[in-house]
Amino acid sequence: MLELRGVKVAYGGVEVLHGVEMSLGEGEVVGMVGPNGAGKTSLLRAICGLTRSSAGEIGFEGRPLRGLAPEEIARLGIAMVPEGRQIFGTLTVAENLRLAARGGGRETMEQVLERLPILRERAGQRADRLSGGEQQQLAVARALLRKPRLLILDEPSLGLAPKTIDVVYGLLEELRAEGATMLLVEQNATRTIDFCHRSLVLAGGRVRASGRREELQRDPEVLRAYMGRQL
Ligand SMILES: Nc1ncnc2c1ncn2[C@@H]1O[C@H](COP(=O)(O)OP(=O)(O)OP(=O)(O)O)[C@@H](O)[C@H]1O
Ligand SMILES: [Mg+2]
Repeated sequence: MLELRGVKVAYGGVEVLHGVEMSLGEGEVVGMVGPNGAGKTSLLRAICGLTRSSAGEIGFEGRPLRGLAPEEIARLGIAMVPEGRQIFGTLTVAENLRLAARGGGRETMEQVLERLPILRERAGQRADRLSGGEQQQLAVARALLRKPRLLILDEPSLGLAPKTIDVVYGLLEELRAEGATMLLVEQNATRTIDFCHRSLVLAGGRVRASGRREELQRDPEVLRAYMGRQL
């Protein structure tokens, strides 16, 4: 479904991704873990057309994405829950959802609210008055309103208390069980590798290891070296 070949990203001539290869099949949940500054967000933004890649190929269902505008890529069925959530804090929950639902049907809105009833309860509340966990649910809801074929999540557990992380992962688990295709970026290696069908370790702008949990566990040196921790 998604295929990356030799993808490079540079900022002002400084290369931060040095040729990333990865692929993801329909119905697969793939994780990407790596330390601060590894290039995780840059890679996701390159897929979504928010950052221009300087080399390589990005294909989605057989179509090349490089050079397309972010709106065109979104229209092809890729939705991202961005790092830091980026909801509109001064707007209400309902207004945030309505903005995201442009073009979508009432039915989709109903489905999303049924899945995340807390957002219905908080509909009239300013988004910046929500708890961190509720804000993350709102961010995911906005992406789901687009009915994406591929859902990309950039550190959905960042800054959340452990209990709240469980709530967010409960939602992701539901989506996984329904066969959703997801690319999940996190710093927490253990949880991500447990949750995903397959994971990649990105560090210093390169993929250092990849595989299923058992395979990565058999390669503890890699994780220790690049994550500074053991599985
Ligand atoms: N807009 C930008 N302009 C210049 N440099 C940038 C920009 N965005 C990211 N970088 C640099 O690119 C490198 C990769 O950053 P990126 O945000 O992709 O990493 P990350 O893996 O998402 O990190 P984190 O876990 O902290 O979110 C870092 O060295 C960062 O400083
Ligand atoms: Mg990041």
